[in-house]
Amino acid sequence: MAMAASRCFLLLLLLLLSPLLEPGAGEEEQEAVLAMAARLPRPAAVSFREGYTQLFGDSNLALHGHGKRVRISLDERTGAGFASQDAYLHGFFSASIKLPADYAAGVVVAFYMSNGDVYEKTHDELDFEFLGNIKGREWRVQTNVYGNGSTSVGREERYGLWFDPTEDFHRYAILWSHDRIVFYIDETPIREVQRTKSMGVQFPSKPMSLYATIWDGSSWATSGGRYKVNYKYAPFVAEFSELMLHGCTIDTLTHAPMCAPDIASIHNAVAMSGRQRSAMERFRTKYMTYGYCYDRLRYPTPLSECNVGPEAELFLPTGEARSMDRHGRARRHRRGPADSAF
Ligand SMILES: *[C@@H]1O[C@H](CO)[C@@H](O)[C@H](O)[C@H]1NC(C)=O
Repeated sequence: MAMAASRCFLLLLLLLLSPLLEPGAGEEEQEAVLAMAARLPRPAAVSFREGYTQLFGDSNLALHGHGKRVRISLDERTGAGFASQDAYLHGFFSASIKLPADYAAGVVVAFYMSNGDVYEKTHDELDFEFLGNIKGREWRVQTNVYGNGSTSVGREERYGLWFDPTEDFHRYAILWSHDRIVFYIDETPIREVQRTKSMGVQFPSKPMSLYATIWDGSSWATSGGRYKVNYKYAPFVAEFSELMLHGCTIDTLTHAPMCAPDIASIHNAVAMSGRQRSAMERFRTKYMTYGYCYDRLRYPTPLSECNVGPEAELFLPTGEARSMDRHGRARRHRRGPADSAF
């Protein structure tokens, strides 16, 4: 069932995009491809039952809108989470997410890809982690990349946001191709990781599933664990809609990719245009609060993929952004790398 549905919209995607994938497609065409990938028609979103399965949290996971929207919540008893039924090797994955309103210190909402269930010691992971804060309106977003179980090598970046993520839905997307990873918020690319030779398998390269969870991160999420979850404000509810999986599905037995080569080439062809790169640079200049590439305490020599350009001037040797007030509200609660226990 899930398979049929995902094949069906992969085919639809291919049909939509194939005219744009002629060899020699210029920047505009590529941008059009990305715009299309980022704004796939709503019908292509899969319902929960078609594409996902509940992981934990019994009644703290609830379906709405004919199974197209999922609410997961955290209360004194439990958090909740779900995962994609299939595993994928590369693709474009997104969800529109509305975060818990009001006081949410210590609450973590995660939207991520992982294969930790299959490769215990050598897992790969791509994360969006939303770290609740002492004031309900000051969520911080973290992205992270792990490859081959190298959790000692964190590649965290953190950002403030220009909008209130608890007020409305915003789209968070991960593009994962064989040589690059791009994280998007709405239509803006916020981070690009290009595979380098020396990254080797620290660039995620094994099939992963998609996950969404909400859990108690009291011990580390907010100011290094200073602010615990206060269950007086429970339940904390995160709502997911427009769940999109267009990746290359993996056969669960053979682990062989089951998609047409053309599908993979769609994801590989999504190069970043000059305009998008500028948008990314603007975002990072304004909203990035921490970058592992600049953290000389952890990495006296930057990791190989760190292409330390002019952006470096914005950061202290702790990896934190230099300016306290470059973006007022997001800057008020500063956090160092020690905040993350990963
Ligand atoms: C991946 O990690 C495992 C366990 O640490 C290690 O044995 C293996 O050599 C690594 N693979 C590569 C290709 O580096």
